[in-house]
Amino acid sequence: MSIITIIGSGNMASAIGTRAAKHGHTVEVMGRNTTKVRALADQIGNGAIVGPFGETPAGDIVILALLYSGVLDVVRHYGNALSGKILVDITNPFNAEGSGLVTTSGDSASQQIAGAAPKGTHVVKAFNSIFGGVLAEDKSMDAFLAGDDAEAKGRVAEFLESMDMRPLDAGGLEATYLLEWIAIFLVDLARSGAGFEIALGAGVL
Ligand SMILES: NC(=O)c1ccc[n+]([C@@H]2O[C@H](COP(=O)([O-])OP(=O)(O)OC[C@H]3O[C@@H](n4cnc5c(N)ncnc54)[C@H](OP(=O)(O)O)[C@@H]3O)[C@@H](O)[C@H]2O)c1
Repeated sequence: MSIITIIGSGNMASAIGTRAAKHGHTVEVMGRNTTKVRALADQIGNGAIVGPFGETPAGDIVILALLYSGVLDVVRHYGNALSGKILVDITNPFNAEGSGLVTTSGDSASQQIAGAAPKGTHVVKAFNSIFGGVLAEDKSMDAFLAGDDAEAKGRVAEFLESMDMRPLDAGGLEATYLLEWIAIFLVDLARSGAGFEIALGAGVL
């Protein structure tokens, strides 16, 4: 098992961190609000540690559990401290109504993050089409991911598998825009009656 760094201390940081720790990973939490970060590390337990915001993360896999509105600023704030890391983009760049995206094809949130990150850093989109509450239940589920670097995707896929999730590769970085729309689809399904306890998956019939 490995050290997983999570930047952010909100709902998704809690859901991913708790699940990762339960499955034997050491979680490092980083964030701008040191009180919230400390509280989250204590809540996660299992040896979770706090890392200084803006300094080199301890983990090779760094989960950006941040709002889209802040993620690029945070990536720029870290700058070369993220060099060589695998950045996991979980953001959903929804418009104010949650009815569409503020990103465009060819310029998804993940592609913007890749543009802002230092050379040698690989971006993989994952977790964005799973509700935090569902993730926290720790049930077996499917997890879509996308990104350009096969090795980085393989590492994230291993991480997902270690947490009892089945990784489903959706393609390269250009496919991250589709994953952003899939999150809109998931929210539409939930709001239209399916409820917020659902998870998307793929099956052979
Ligand atoms: N919640 C879900 O079910 C869900 C599911 C899939 C994907 N997502 C995506 O996951 C991401 C996180 O969602 P969440 O529900 O965890 O949100 P959240 O509870 O509001 O947490 C957001 C985190 O981002 C930090 N942040 C925001 N702007 C920042 C900035 N400029 N600099 C530094 N930190 C900043 C916040 O820090 P402070 O606490 O200091 O404000 C907080 O730790 C979002 O992009 C969301 O679209 C959410």
